[in-house]
Amino acid sequence: MIAKKNLFSSEIKEKVQSLISEMTLEEKVGQMSQFDWGFHAINPDAGGEINLIMKELLDKGMLGSLFNLSGVEQANTLQQQAIERSRLGIPMIVGRDVIHGYRSVFPIPLAQSASWNPDLIRRTASAASKEAASDGISWVFAPMIDITRDPRWGRIAETMGEDPHLGEIMAEAWVDGAEVLDSANESLSVASCPKHFAGYGFAESGRDYNTVDVSDRVLREVILPPFRKAVDAGALSIMASFNEVNGVPACANHYLLTTILREEWGFEGVLVSDYNALGELITHGVAKDAEEACEIAIKAGTDMDMHSGIYYKYLPKLVQEGRVDESLIDAAVGRILALKIKLKLFDNAQVNPDLNQSVILSEEHVSLAREAARESIVLLKNDNDTLPLTKQLKSLAVIGPLATNINDPLGCWAADGNPDDVVSLLDGIKAKISPDTELLYAEGCDIESEDENGFEQALAVVAQADVTIIAVGESKIMSGEGNSRSELDLPGKQRELVEAAIKLGKPVVVVLFNGRPLTTVWLDEKATSIVEAWHLGIQSGNAIADVLFGDYNPSGKLTATFPRSVGQIPLYYYRKNTGRPPGGVYSSRYVDAPVQPLYPFGYGLSYTKFEYNNLVISSTSISSSDSVSVSVDITNTGSYNGDEVVQLYIRDLAASVTQPLKKLKGFSKISLLAGETKTVTFTVTPSDLAIIGVNNSLTVEPGSFQVMVGSNSEDGLIGEFVVR
Ligand code: NOJ
Repeated sequence: MIAKKNLFSSEIKEKVQSLISEMTLEEKVGQMSQFDWGFHAINPDAGGEINLIMKELLDKGMLGSLFNLSGVEQANTLQQQAIERSRLGIPMIVGRDVIHGYRSVFPIPLAQSASWNPDLIRRTASAASKEAASDGISWVFAPMIDITRDPRWGRIAETMGEDPHLGEIMAEAWVDGAEVLDSANESLSVASCPKHFAGYGFAESGRDYNTVDVSDRVLREVILPPFRKAVDAGALSIMASFNEVNGVPACANHYLLTTILREEWGFEGVLVSDYNALGELITHGVAKDAEEACEIAIKAGTDMDMHSGIYYKYLPKLVQEGRVDESLIDAAVGRILALKIKLKLFDNAQVNPDLNQSVILSEEHVSLAREAARESIVLLKNDNDTLPLTKQLKSLAVIGPLATNINDPLGCWAADGNPDDVVSLLDGIKAKISPDTELLYAEGCDIESEDENGFEQALAVVAQADVTIIAVGESKIMSGEGNSRSELDLPGKQRELVEAAIKLGKPVVVVLFNGRPLTTVWLDEKATSIVEAWHLGIQSGNAIADVLFGDYNPSGKLTATFPRSVGQIPLYYYRKNTGRPPGGVYSSRYVDAPVQPLYPFGYGLSYTKFEYNNLVISSTSISSSDSVSVSVDITNTGSYNGDEVVQLYIRDLAASVTQPLKKLKGFSKISLLAGETKTVTFTVTPSDLAIIGVNNSLTVEPGSFQVMVGSNSEDGLIGEFVVR
């Protein structure tokens, strides 16, 4: 259990009160304002209103926060100025989007979640925060803990998939890793900022920023659990989302920000809006002008205004006119000051400028990047045990637009990443194979264009080699913010290249680089071996080569369902039976397609085989306050040592409210030597069995429960017990 990091100790409370008692209203609202320095850097003389407000606040020493500074020198200089110019010596807090690594770029979060390894996530988050802190950053806008069921949505790459339980575990680990509160004197402490609160992953049609319409039940059962866990893990801030919830955009949504977050959960930290989200209240159509936007945002519970300038411009007037009570401002600024005190920014806001040389891209972080990348890889298909390949091949062809690519493996949201740090697949392979292997390379085509001129050369090298590795997929800007897709197959001419190569009849291994689930049914039908390698960060090529040549036995499991077609979306394992489950004519089905996914949630192969036996439930009948243990024997029946993610799912067979066919309630990643058997035991507690019943309260309802333990969400041993 992670200790909750209390923001308001009595000492902090006292200091906050004493500061507030001396602050003018203007100083207070300055603290509640945050700006994007990168925006200013691109256009310093634009003189637009935002730049003017930011400059005014900087000059007056009243600015609460900046983000997107470039490097430690700039952070130190601006911070020094802020403190010197501030009448009360109040430092700024410097933020940044540190989504999956800083300069040491780790795999995209969707990939990292496929490791099902919270300890790994804790370590990558912590390494990222330490690198960022050495560059003057003390607030990372991470983790992204949105649940989503829509791979069209480009920001699925930044999520940890579709499941609330896995989301909870990962959110807790990420917050714990990212918040570095005991930094050495020469660096900074770091606060995390779980986002986007809430429902952002449910944008209609998978179109980023689109309308969200979710029931309170889906909100509370699926979307909110990771946020609740992040709060309980001590998250010091939270970012509100752009979208509306029940008709009210998040930063204006009192129910979300005050009723749930503050009153129900007791969140004490800072609530920051998303970028210009206050300004967008006008575009959404819930405020007639900026002044009204200002009023509803502060009344809803938004503490800090990211990059709209609206708080600074209008809050004083609203207070003077009696439309906003100054106590709301004191509460918000109090939380911002408390955060700064907690991070020790009043004691030391300067960073030793030489520190980053030893922290950034340290040997430890680079090796962690390789470890994380290997654990993120998911083996989707491996007929005839084509993989792993021997390092002693006579000849090997490597083709495809991602083979030598060092830019796209960085993935979306890797602003501090540098392509020169990335090991390409071809270089990873070169470093792995015998010097006697003849290595042939041709690109074949690029990611998106319709040009087939490179096919001839590529197919010639395929024909010449014993084995071919084809690296295909998406560019990094096909996922991430604003980058939704309506088709989820390989773009450009890549499919044609892969099909032509397979047609030559020689062994072909396809390596996919993508930021989301794809609908590559044709590939599954035609290829013998498919390796899902996502966008894996700086150690991409080495990690993939480790897997291809058997130095690492893949263990990743999908955390988002791969649909067969865009028409099936949203498709997710946590679905309900309905009154007419898929079957005959008048059932919930398609006339032109199966309802099953291409690859289900939790799926992923290994070079070895795992057999599940002896499901034992400790009791067939328990009371509603009892726990029950469920154990299963897993045997590695293959010839490689390997890791397996053992998954436990629960189904409440009849409840006052319809329940999903399966809900993940436990998992355990175990290592098994070839031939070894281990028993895994899960404890199913009353809170695992509790549901939000028809009367809206959390209860364990009596009745039968089904348990499934297996290697993915569709395959496992099933048992049953009864709650009396
Ligand atoms: C908008 C994004 O939605 C959010 O995730 C990010 O933290 C902010 N911009 C700041 O860059």
